[in-house]
Amino acid sequence: MDKAELMRDFHRIFGHRPENPLFLFAPGRINIIGEHIDYNGGLVMPMAINFGTYAMISRRDDGVARFASVNFPEIIEVGLQNIKYDAQHGWANYPKGIIYHMMADGHTLGGFDILFSGNIPQGAGLSSSASVEMVMAMAANAMFGLGYSPIEMALLAQKSENQFCGVNCGIMDQFAVGMGKKGHALMLNCDSLEYHLLPLNLGGHTIVVMDTKKSRQLSESAYNQRRGECEEALARLKPIFDVQNLADIAPENMDKVEELLGKGVLLMRARHVISENARVKQGAKLLEKGDVAALGQLLVASHKSLALDYEVSCAELDAIVEAALAHPACIGARMTGAGFGGCAIALVQQDNIDNFAKFVSEKYATKIGHLPEIYPVQSGQAEII
Ligand code: GLA
Repeated sequence: MDKAELMRDFHRIFGHRPENPLFLFAPGRINIIGEHIDYNGGLVMPMAINFGTYAMISRRDDGVARFASVNFPEIIEVGLQNIKYDAQHGWANYPKGIIYHMMADGHTLGGFDILFSGNIPQGAGLSSSASVEMVMAMAANAMFGLGYSPIEMALLAQKSENQFCGVNCGIMDQFAVGMGKKGHALMLNCDSLEYHLLPLNLGGHTIVVMDTKKSRQLSESAYNQRRGECEEALARLKPIFDVQNLADIAPENMDKVEELLGKGVLLMRARHVISENARVKQGAKLLEKGDVAALGQLLVASHKSLALDYEVSCAELDAIVEAALAHPACIGARMTGAGFGGCAIALVQQDNIDNFAKFVSEKYATKIGHLPEIYPVQSGQAEII
């Protein structure tokens, strides 16, 4: 997507040329490892990708905000003083929520027209919503000189998604979208928000996205249910282990955890969280050393734990991971994101990607009945272009 093209779209859709526009990009993300532990105060290792949302914003002087996207037919128009959630506004509630929360922070914003153009499929679990939220935040922040730092924008976007849109997500997606950098994965402590960038030493391997093309219908209610189960497990374990978060419990204490929780769902959820956190720590060390083969094995263990203990995989995700692992060029694969459909990722030898994609597509289609979409991704980053 280049600037001139989005300018033409802007003119066509809004009926006027943008004046002194800003042109921005916010990426989507994959998560290499550390799934369903951001809301348990754990460590996560996401990577911002080279697919995401472009935006062009131009001021208006009448206190009106108009939101349009080349991906959707409608233009949503709201008075800045009158922003509220409206189910009929669909996707536009994400950027509306950002403006609402910036104003709730006490900032004065002017009117604007903003046009989005996204190239991540919606509902695939690559954080298209966090990408739209962050590009809106960056655009308003820069245009109206609001002075938010990228981390503050990520926190505002998470708050908006939780409170304005009613989606109970953790901080991982918005943080990865805002803070991820090209050539790196991000190592984030979701409790303290301390983070550092990890160079992507993938030793001739590429991260390949495998979209099951199954939309994540059940994911929201099941997501909230998992969060609830983790809270319950923590409430029982907290007095004994003196921890603030489920992810703070050391894997050495698993026997004690089992004694306290008994066998059943709470134990399964806790076991996933505790073991996944340990895998992220280990994964960071392996990436630093460039031991990609061992990292690949951790991805496989993570998928197993998500499928069996956390129960957020599904037939499609399991089938695509199994197909990927059956190819000799693949050294690890797992579901990525919330689960129940959406995407998995695989670590694949760079010079074998086409062959891998063909092999996995055929195997998956034979088992599931429809074709997946398989493509390599590179690291990306948010920028004002
Ligand atoms: C979704 C949420 C994130 C995180 C993942 C699971 O993407 O938005 O906060 O919880 O699921 O790791």
